[in-house]
Amino acid sequence: MNRVLVKNAIIITMGKKDVIENGYVYIEDNKIKEVNNGEYTNDLNGAYVIDAKGGILMPGFVNSHTHIPMTLLRGYGEGLPLMKWLREKVWPFENKLTQGDVEIGSYLGLIEMIKSGTTAFIDMYFHEINIADVVERVKIRGFLAHTIIGEKNEEQFKYVDDMYNKFKDSKYVNVLIGPHSPYTLNKEVLKQVGDYARYRHMPIHIHLSETLDEIEIIKEKYNMTPIELCDSIGMFDGTKTIAAHCVHLYENDFEILKSKDITAVHNPQSNMKLASGIAPVTKMIDYNINVALGTDGTSSNNNLDMFDEMRSASLLQKLSNMDATALSSYNTLKMATLNGYIALGIDDKIGKIEENYKADMIIIDTNKAHMLPIHDVYSNIVFAANGNDVKTVIVDGNIIMEDYELKTIDEEYYLYEARRRVKEILNR
Ligand code: NI
Repeated sequence: MNRVLVKNAIIITMGKKDVIENGYVYIEDNKIKEVNNGEYTNDLNGAYVIDAKGGILMPGFVNSHTHIPMTLLRGYGEGLPLMKWLREKVWPFENKLTQGDVEIGSYLGLIEMIKSGTTAFIDMYFHEINIADVVERVKIRGFLAHTIIGEKNEEQFKYVDDMYNKFKDSKYVNVLIGPHSPYTLNKEVLKQVGDYARYRHMPIHIHLSETLDEIEIIKEKYNMTPIELCDSIGMFDGTKTIAAHCVHLYENDFEILKSKDITAVHNPQSNMKLASGIAPVTKMIDYNINVALGTDGTSSNNNLDMFDEMRSASLLQKLSNMDATALSSYNTLKMATLNGYIALGIDDKIGKIEENYKADMIIIDTNKAHMLPIHDVYSNIVFAANGNDVKTVIVDGNIIMEDYELKTIDEEYYLYEARRRVKEILNR
């Protein structure tokens, strides 16, 4: 049996015990067996001991909206207007990507994510089976949605079903369906997505109400908002939908998001960088809508650091509401952790540092000038820390990074290979 004891930690539980000032976590196999303050005094039973040295132990981040292989496009075609950038740079580059390239891009993204404390992510891309293969090797949790886009979708649906069959018993991979958006798909396909998701009990990951252009296109075609359109064809009925962006919302949209139990994923940095707008996060929270947090792809961010994203999220809500109390540090951290699991409907199993929860957690170094003093641990996490402060990462009871060193990825090799690949792709 795999046993791990983490001691000497400030524990953010995201649960009933709130914060334990000096405590320990005892792990057996892939579950948390005991969480308490003070010293662990029972028999160690051969447990591997990690001394957190006063660091902060908390649930890992859930990056709830990514396109992970886009790490290969980080900074490519920077500074162009959106449509020119997509048509002249992003799409031609993506058209050249092979399955092997997607794997290398995934490794690059996973290195960055694990090193900055992410233990689970919700992805939407193509060649998603290749991403899943990498996820299994690396032992992080991937909730992976193969994209459904354009006019001909039969093969895409078949791909999703093959992927479902391949990974249905996987510990690390969960298969989702990823209809790209209402403006890149017709109504019939969106309806088909709903039917398929109900049949497989599979969550749906989609982009919704991201830009004013999208709202205009859908209004003109259907005289509805994108959210009303999906609702009108029954896509949300009996499914779990995780909707990225939700920037431009109308009164009825809030009602639908709430009544159909839809999670909105906030992507503040992408929304700012692409000048899409400011999502009404505090209003959604007032409506009791679950709001999670994501970075979106690195080509519109340009990193996968959830600390950075939390800080942007909180600052943006304070400024746009002209209210310093808007989106507290605690609520921001909850968006970046537990709310991702609520989105997926598994928050009774993962996302808290409590007995019987899955052993997914990170340790943040506090022995750094910018992390001291600790008057308010939530504030330090959201406003002072950054991705480089994550020291140790545990997923499903496996230590995948310890003392800043990755255990399941040959970092040096994949950094080299990513550099080499990108040159090769550009020359194709
Ligand atoms: Ni996106």
